[in-house]
Amino acid sequence: MDNRPFKILVTGACGMLGTDVLKAASGLAGVEAQGVDMADFDLLDTKAAAAYIARFKPDAIVHCAAFTNVDAAEARQEEAFKINAMAVRDLAVICAEGSIKLALLSTDYVFDGEKGSPYAEYDQPSPINVYGMSKYYAERYAVQICPRSFIVRTSWLFGANGNNFVRAILKKSRSEGELFVVDDQVGSPTYTGDLAKFLIELVQTDKYGIYHATNEGYCSWNEFARVILKLSAMDGVKVNAVDSEAFKRPAARPKNSRLLKTALYYSGFKGLRPWQEALADYLAEIGEA
Ligand SMILES: NC(=O)c1ccc[n+]([C@@H]2O[C@H](COP(=O)([O-])OP(=O)(O)OC[C@H]3O[C@@H](n4cnc5c(N)ncnc54)[C@H](OP(=O)(O)O)[C@@H]3O)[C@@H](O)[C@H]2O)c1
Repeated sequence: MDNRPFKILVTGACGMLGTDVLKAASGLAGVEAQGVDMADFDLLDTKAAAAYIARFKPDAIVHCAAFTNVDAAEARQEEAFKINAMAVRDLAVICAEGSIKLALLSTDYVFDGEKGSPYAEYDQPSPINVYGMSKYYAERYAVQICPRSFIVRTSWLFGANGNNFVRAILKKSRSEGELFVVDDQVGSPTYTGDLAKFLIELVQTDKYGIYHATNEGYCSWNEFARVILKLSAMDGVKVNAVDSEAFKRPAARPKNSRLLKTALYYSGFKGLRPWQEALADYLAEIGEA
């Protein structure tokens, strides 16, 4: 009998999602997990990445590391493309040669948001910002190069180890007392703790392909802000609705970020719970509920 544990390498392990993926994998029976981040090697150093991977010999890599500053990517296009796309190409080659599974984290931002209904896994991506384009190329490299690849598109992440919308809303409410939040972008808030559990389950299967994985339910950023404040007993704070035009940022955002989770359910996975339930747990986790 083979008693060897299933070995998972988590990149971006000090980031918001990576922290929770490592946590979800650690202590699981039959699983051995290791996390890496910038301090271990820069993903742009392919030789260092290959050497590390050859030493650890993972069965699967959950690739959370990325250039994630969506607005900064507009001015730093080449850097974003190298980290998000070229480094994934090289990682995919390493995985293909070593028969390693590769789970690539991707994003709702591969879509332009113009569709009038939620996006299916097979809808054609058409990114409207540099970050989205770099992630779309990453998806293509992973699928074309590594036969054992999972593409996991997610959206609007919040987790304990990162700056995110929930924290920003709580902070702003305390300093300003009145908020202006866009109500013409719709998507699914997603708790990194819930997504992490799905990722660990997914990579232990051979159900390769493209997945959409978010908490259940859709809302606008404005509705999201209202629920955050309600659950943290700060609903006295006024939340005004504004549209994206009034809130210009360097990178354009898709208005419709709703993702259908057909592949996830078809493949027999349990969906992620409704975002409101996940948010309540998250607020308790960070001492805000
Ligand atoms: N956040 C969201 O709402 C969201 C939505 C959809 C999809 N995603 C995707 O989900 C994944 C996780 O997102 P996140 O928000 O958890 O990211 P995050 O907190 O920004 O973490 C990213 C990690 O990657 C590391 N990293 C960046 N460049 C690197 C390099 N060249 N070599 C090695 N490590 C490097 C970062 O290290 P340093 O901090 O030292 O740079 C950081 O620890 C990403 O692939 C992202 O594109 C995120």
